[in-house]
Amino acid sequence: MKPIKVGLLGIGTVGGGTYTVLKRNQEEITRRAGRGIVVTMIADRDLDRANSFADSGVVVTGNAQDVIANPEIDIVVELIGGTTIAKDLVLAAIAQGKHVVTANKALLANHGTEIFSAARGKGVMVAFEAAVAGGIPIIKALREGLTANRIEWVAGIINGTANFILSEMREKSLPFAPVLEQAQKLGYAEADPTYDIEGVDAAHKITLMSAIAFGVPVQFDKVYMEGITKLTQEDISYAEELGYRIKLLGITRRVEKGIELRVHPALIPANRLIANVEGVMNAVMVKGDAVGATLYYGAGAGAEPTASAVIADLVDVARVQTADPANRVPMLSFQPDALTDTPILPMEEVETACYLRLQVIDKPGSLAEISRVLADFNISISAVIQKEVTSEGGPVNVIMLTHKNPEKDMNAAIARIETLSIVTGRVTRIRIEELEG
Ligand code: HSE
Repeated sequence: MKPIKVGLLGIGTVGGGTYTVLKRNQEEITRRAGRGIVVTMIADRDLDRANSFADSGVVVTGNAQDVIANPEIDIVVELIGGTTIAKDLVLAAIAQGKHVVTANKALLANHGTEIFSAARGKGVMVAFEAAVAGGIPIIKALREGLTANRIEWVAGIINGTANFILSEMREKSLPFAPVLEQAQKLGYAEADPTYDIEGVDAAHKITLMSAIAFGVPVQFDKVYMEGITKLTQEDISYAEELGYRIKLLGITRRVEKGIELRVHPALIPANRLIANVEGVMNAVMVKGDAVGATLYYGAGAGAEPTASAVIADLVDVARVQTADPANRVPMLSFQPDALTDTPILPMEEVETACYLRLQVIDKPGSLAEISRVLADFNISISAVIQKEVTSEGGPVNVIMLTHKNPEKDMNAAIARIETLSIVTGRVTRIRIEELEG
């Protein structure tokens, strides 16, 4: 069979890795795919960079449209990023009847419905394993490996930069800012680092996993997002004292009323495997009704780990290129006419246990006043610690763990606690996720 021809749009970190790994493992990849997979065109604004990779016979261009217009190209690999030019190029490639492989989570989280529908209309595939958790084959696991299950929840450490920052803060007792700088130097951070630290990147990824897990459309506009910029080392060490680690989690869970979809820091029991995922590594837990809890771990970014996912998609496309489109694995796992409109729940309706840190004036009745407010909102306390006074007459840190409660009650309780004269400053609230198998 003739080799399948690939055009790369963008030869930065992931594009370079893809080119290198495809070449290095060409023989084995051909044996697996049943035919060769060759890059015959590269488009990049930096022609020198593109030429430094291109072997003889590979056409290099500064114009991505040249790749899309070339009838010889079977698969377009979009590694440009962003949601504007990349969107136009992906839709143009689909319109030309080309399959698309992309690592662009922002694009699919925001415009997935339009892109998948265009692809179905043309009978082509849009494959995106590299968009979620880099080299971990989590899309394949959710879409194919776990199809027997009713998925109950998915929870993941899916931003390496944020995880690296939290690990360094905990292990080396470092503050936030210098660790972020270090992460950027190591090349893991998104072009806009706020995407990493404010939870946006993780939200893109959990949006895609939620759609695949529950058979709902991609709905990035409904994700609750809270990043790690307000976390202090104090909270990290108090959490540790209580037997927890703080991680930035992407969570999606099916509950009676709908689907939870959220990204925020969470306390996880330190003895869970996932709590011990450190540095830039990623991990995703999936709980299915039949299989129970499963855990997927690996590199969530980097040239060759992400290339591993891009190439797996290329092999998938090569294998099914000739298959009847109606019998292919659906792009979002569920058949397109079988998606449901189960609502994504507003955060106010989500129920979690919480860690609260309050600065309290140390005098008789203070704890009673706070407990009264919590009781008024039906919030039950599961643990309390009070730290020693650091300055004479100054406030003390009181840490409370609560049982599960609806977010709206906790919001109201916190607002009322902040008005008490014995409480100084804001209340820190970090949600707790037990992630029980
Ligand atoms: N910026 C991302 C991270 C990398 O830190 O995990 C790829 O999504």
